[in-house]
Amino acid sequence: MRSISLTAPAKINLYLEIIGLRPDGYHELVMVLQSIALADRLELHPNGKEETRLYCSNSQVPLDQTNIAYKAVQLITSEYPEIASNYGGIDIIIDKQIPVAAGLAGGSSNGAAVLVGLNLLWNLGLTQPEIETLAAQLGSDVPFCVAGGTAIATGRGEKLAPIPSGDDLWLVLAKYQSLSVSTPWAYQQYRQEYSHTYLQDLQGETTRKDVVHSGPLVKAITHKQHQQIGQLLHNDLEKVVLPAYPLVGHLRDTLEKTGGLGTMMSGSGPSVFTLCESQKEAETILDKVRESIPDSDLQLWITKLANRGINIDYD
Ligand code: C5P
Repeated sequence: MRSISLTAPAKINLYLEIIGLRPDGYHELVMVLQSIALADRLELHPNGKEETRLYCSNSQVPLDQTNIAYKAVQLITSEYPEIASNYGGIDIIIDKQIPVAAGLAGGSSNGAAVLVGLNLLWNLGLTQPEIETLAAQLGSDVPFCVAGGTAIATGRGEKLAPIPSGDDLWLVLAKYQSLSVSTPWAYQQYRQEYSHTYLQDLQGETTRKDVVHSGPLVKAITHKQHQQIGQLLHNDLEKVVLPAYPLVGHLRDTLEKTGGLGTMMSGSGPSVFTLCESQKEAETILDKVRESIPDSDLQLWITKLANRGINIDYD
């Protein structure tokens, strides 16, 4: 096999609840994660050298070891050094469509794509759970990005329970191009302001049941109750990100007032989305938001929920 091409979808958070602080310093979360059709394309080409080289025309994407795609090659190489040395270096070409540092797991999805791609290119024979275990070493959202669809994610975000996909909804996605939010900053800020609400006994089933409120949303998704899905969207990180980024708060308010099933910030932001019943409804909302906020820095997309994660396009 000479080269491989993959599609790496973005994700949104339909639900993000922060439960407490874990002994490893990460936050214990309950999330409902959802793939969307907005996706990057990655090509992996063996380069006959011993190095990993990254190419991307978007200047916001780092092309060094800080890129999760690069880290994914390093991880596989350290786990399987003999196989890696047999095959040699890889050129990774990223066609970046997912906005960077937007709360949409763009980097995580690229990392997941490299794991899935190298598994095939280097004949590693890893199963999906084995890939997800490696993925967890790269970042909390990377395991979800492997299979995608719709899933409840707990722990750091790496423990996944897939649920039947709500892939028949559309969404308007909005982000100010020049704004980005640091995920570590958002969690640290939340910890400073809300650690008094944290559950102390993370293992205690009863207390956990008392604070976690994702059940009704999960039920609405599995029953395809679209109005309820829209009403039950939740993201604890809005409490710290929106006050610090008033433009994002205003954007969220504008989207919410314009229509659709429900509006929420995704992940640590600053992207905001509105779920819609149809493409037509999404187009109407997009036009109205564009009219209300005539700022050339505001990027708007219409896309759909998606029922899959990394897709191998051809080899
Ligand atoms: O896992 P990942 O590297 O994507 O996380 C980025 C940062 O977000 C972490 O370094 C941590 O500060 C914060 N985080 C957290 N709890 C999680 C996930 C992320 O505190 N469950």
